[in-house]
Amino acid sequence: MEPKSREFPSAFLWGTATAAHQVEGGNRGSDLWLMEMAKDSLYADPSGDACDHYHRYAEDIALLKGLGFNTYRFSIEWARIEPEEGFFSAAALDHYRRMIATCHALRVIPMVTFHHFTAPLWFSRDGGWENEKSVDRFARYCDRAGRALGDLISCACTINEANIPLMITMMREAVGIGGGDKRERALAEAARLSGGEPGRFSTYLSGDGRASTPNLIAAHRKAYDFLKPMVKGPVGITLSLNDLQAEPGGEALRDAADQMINRQFLEAVRGDDFVGVQTYTRVRFGASGLLPPEGERTQMGYEFYPQALAACIRSAAKVSGCPIIVTENGIGTEDDTRRIAFTKAALDGVLDCIADGIDVRGYIHWSLMDNFEWLEGYRPKFGLVEVDRTTQARKPKPSAYWLGDIANANRL
Ligand code: GCO
Repeated sequence: MEPKSREFPSAFLWGTATAAHQVEGGNRGSDLWLMEMAKDSLYADPSGDACDHYHRYAEDIALLKGLGFNTYRFSIEWARIEPEEGFFSAAALDHYRRMIATCHALRVIPMVTFHHFTAPLWFSRDGGWENEKSVDRFARYCDRAGRALGDLISCACTINEANIPLMITMMREAVGIGGGDKRERALAEAARLSGGEPGRFSTYLSGDGRASTPNLIAAHRKAYDFLKPMVKGPVGITLSLNDLQAEPGGEALRDAADQMINRQFLEAVRGDDFVGVQTYTRVRFGASGLLPPEGERTQMGYEFYPQALAACIRSAAKVSGCPIIVTENGIGTEDDTRRIAFTKAALDGVLDCIADGIDVRGYIHWSLMDNFEWLEGYRPKFGLVEVDRTTQARKPKPSAYWLGDIANANRL
């Protein structure tokens, strides 16, 4: 047998990812800021200053470039751009224009996500994504931001993990994750604090995914059409894909979950420029439901299972027919040697997919730096770069140099 080529295709995107709320700090106009600061918050920590990336973006982009990466995936914050309904902040748009221009100046490809979990407070107070007005509200924001920034955007993601509200809702029903009863109390408190109608406050991650899903799909379709003519490069969506496996007897449950959480979304994006695959682990089903993870677990409690990435790339490519960009893959761990082992095995799988003729265009690692991991706060460490929470000093971990070298060489 010929030895497998260890080269990645030319023009392969090698990047690291972040999301505005997780790294910028001071996102006071967002729905989550209110929820994090409320008493009895669902969130282990408030996001607070995060990594102060709002001010330190230039040094952070220079850092990832210096490590060997050619792409930076980040999000622009709707809550800053449209802090009140219909008021668009030219200053916030200018900020993101400078940030994207900094990428170009440093020869880094900017991949820009328009919605990464957070929304303006006014939006969530009025039912968030459960309100059908969300479709036009999101499209209008994309139109305004696209007009201001599109000429500089090399690749756009409309909505990050559009299937995760539904996945979380189903997991909440199956195994009670995501806050349990505390969640309803937290949403009620947020409705009260925000001055909204009782029962109406809904966030992306804590809302009713069954109600939000049709709106999310429609919003993506509309935003896609608006952004296509404005953005310089490909436009797509990203999905949270777990490798769903069945033990004997679990096939029917697995297939039903696959249809709901994965396939209906992959079918809805057929014809898009790409689909973003975001994979962290596998999930197994037995005859009576979800099975617990086996063996080594990550800080998130996920099974250490890097092989999941290749399986998800294969099914995403097959069902959607789209080119694939791995827009997130990574591991929450204090042990950086496990990050390297995980990523090495995941990249082996990416090469196998490419060898089998699947059009995989990039690998973007989550995350550039340790950051605000939503409900879990600052405990999980997903970063290639460590951030001192007091001084904000950045320190690349061995994994950062290791992956940066692979990126630079374009081979494993
Ligand atoms: C997600 C998000 C990221 C997370 C990452 C690690 O997948 O939930 O896109 O914001 O931080 O996945 O859990």
